[in-house]
Amino acid sequence: MMSNRLEEVRRRHANAEAGGGPERKERQHREGKLSARERIDLLLDEGTFEELDKLVRHRSHNFGMQHHVIDGDGFVTGYGCIHGRTAFVFAQDFTVFGGSLSEANAQKIVKIMDLAMKTGAPVIGLNDSGGARIQEGVESLAGYADIFLRNTLASGLIPQISAIMGPCAGGAVYSPALTDFVFMVNHTSHMFVTGPDVIKTVTHEDVTKENLGGAMTHNSVSGVAQFLAADDADCLRSIRELMRFIPQNNLDGVPRVATKDPEDRADESLDTLIPPESNKPYDIKDVIRRVIDDGYFFEVAEHYARNIVIGFARMAGETVGIVANQPAFLAGCLDINSSTKGARFVRFCDAFQIPILTFEDVPGFLPGTEQEFGGIIRHGAKLLYAYAEATVPKITVITRKAYGGAYCVMGSKHLRTDVNFAYPTAEIAVMGPEGAVNILYRRELQNGDNPELIRQKKIEEYRERFANPFVAAERGYIDDVIEPHETRPKVIRALRMLANKIDTMPRKKHGNIPL
Ligand code: HXC
Repeated sequence: MMSNRLEEVRRRHANAEAGGGPERKERQHREGKLSARERIDLLLDEGTFEELDKLVRHRSHNFGMQHHVIDGDGFVTGYGCIHGRTAFVFAQDFTVFGGSLSEANAQKIVKIMDLAMKTGAPVIGLNDSGGARIQEGVESLAGYADIFLRNTLASGLIPQISAIMGPCAGGAVYSPALTDFVFMVNHTSHMFVTGPDVIKTVTHEDVTKENLGGAMTHNSVSGVAQFLAADDADCLRSIRELMRFIPQNNLDGVPRVATKDPEDRADESLDTLIPPESNKPYDIKDVIRRVIDDGYFFEVAEHYARNIVIGFARMAGETVGIVANQPAFLAGCLDINSSTKGARFVRFCDAFQIPILTFEDVPGFLPGTEQEFGGIIRHGAKLLYAYAEATVPKITVITRKAYGGAYCVMGSKHLRTDVNFAYPTAEIAVMGPEGAVNILYRRELQNGDNPELIRQKKIEEYRERFANPFVAAERGYIDDVIEPHETRPKVIRALRMLANKIDTMPRKKHGNIPL
């Protein structure tokens, strides 16, 4: 009896492990994709995977489905370790009914998400699916909605990460969209709400699958994805790398990683890195790398809205979230895309107790009808809201321009930023000298004898008076004007001082961020 049962267990386990069979697995490999189980093996620390619900079966009798039963029902779910810390994982197995979502395998995902929320551990979803299981209908849709609810309830509680490693279409896209970070594998992954054929029928547009919803499209155009991977292995490696920076949950605190980079390291090259000519671009990442531990910057959303740079780094071994204007792209102007990109990142950091270090060099919001009609007012307000709401330690370094509303938005003292530094090259004013003079002296410039001479003289006067950090420092809006080479030690000391910071929000259900 017992030996029969043992055989039965082994048979069922083997059935689950075989998935859709060797031919379909071979097809997956031919397409450059790994199988669900191979992916999990690469994602987790070796030998740590504990599978749950391997024996779950679907209960559908539609379209002869009762004759097609595969143990596990095509999703592999469970938990294991990443760098020694628990992570929950689900992987859709495209070899079983196209990785489609059934009532049964939706419940498997719900089970690990509930466990993850109770135990305070991240959830990583590896998506490769034809969407709702067509043979099931509304049970499958219900399954999606059950997952969407968990994604929402878990948001801000535990990190949720999605990897798109195959198709992800229709309403199925909304689960990844609700998670914190989306990785996509170049050429083999696609996301869209409606595919090329439907688009052709409805709007008569011709668009390829790759152009519509490929990895580069979502990384650079739509901003739906934040990471682009060369292949499956690269994608899983990058997820593991991200996990080194982020905490397990909202109460865990940031991970600590030993570094040999001295805390008091001064970098003299910073003193000459910012060009004194305020219109000359430079790469803000050169500044960031000189300040952070070992020059190691883990950039997020590298290809999207490049006028703002976001990502993780460490200072004295502990994670910080970096937000920086990028003068090398669109002069570092804030626009719709950079505002939403920055806002979402600031909120992630705030939710997970990651201090925010801001580098500011922004001439203002990008002018133009495209921006105004697109709602820059509403979208810019998101960044403002996110900074104002954030209660984590906040430090801002103004490297050069801090003009107009952008001064207020980018972690200004007035939005309860804790420590604000400025470089001697900082220019903090309502607007740049040229614009200001054109408005203040319009009449003189129109009627005067030598308007060019007047303009130059007034610009010089304005620059002397306002385009510097001292007016703000005299009022305490800037805590100190520092020499650029001392940025790292100054920021580390400030972070240490802020380590036990407690700040709160007024009691309320939740705010109403201008979405
Ligand atoms: C059941 C499915 C399936 C599905 C694919 N398969 N999608 N089975 N339900 N949704 C099966 C196929 O029958 C096939 O079975 C196997 O998976 C592989 O599929 P292929 O078509 O051979 O693969 P490929 O050519 O790579 O094309 C992949 C695909 C295509 C683009 C994903 O299969 C496809 O268009 N599927 C339907 C997608 C779809 O419309 N889904 C519903 C979306 S609506 P065999 O046995 O031949 O190997 C939705 C709503 C969610 O998801 C709502 C949430 C709120």
